[in-house]
Amino acid sequence: ATTRHEAETSPSVCTGSLDSNYPGFSGSGFCNGVNAAGAYAQFTVNAPAAGTATLRVRFANGTATARPAALLVNGSTVQTPSYEATGAWSTWATKTLTVQLNAGGNTVRLNPTTAAGLPNVDYLDV
Ligand code: GCU
Repeated sequence: ATTRHEAETSPSVCTGSLDSNYPGFSGSGFCNGVNAAGAYAQFTVNAPAAGTATLRVRFANGTATARPAALLVNGSTVQTPSYEATGAWSTWATKTLTVQLNAGGNTVRLNPTTAAGLPNVDYLDV
């Protein structure tokens, strides 16, 4: 089963504002991170057992430039995917990432590595 973790809903953390000014989001809005390196979005993910998990990050990037962000699981960077331009802030895309999770609670953090910051982030499905 898939569990949706909305970026705008606690215990998720958004280093920026929770906005709803572009349509197409799930839930009540999305995370508009501050345009700065390190302005992260974080999710808390419960896993029934340790092992491989598929993460799906829904995002929009209305600029012409991809935005890279380190993917940290429980504090360790496991990869640094780049969130490509989607054509408009109202055009949402999904990035699929494969990670290892611990049994129980895990933190998953998207930590932008450039001054542009994150794309707008709608949710994390696991
Ligand atoms: C615009 C847009 C925001 C977006 C920001 C950005 O200001 O309205 O939703 O987050 O660009 O560049 O990240």
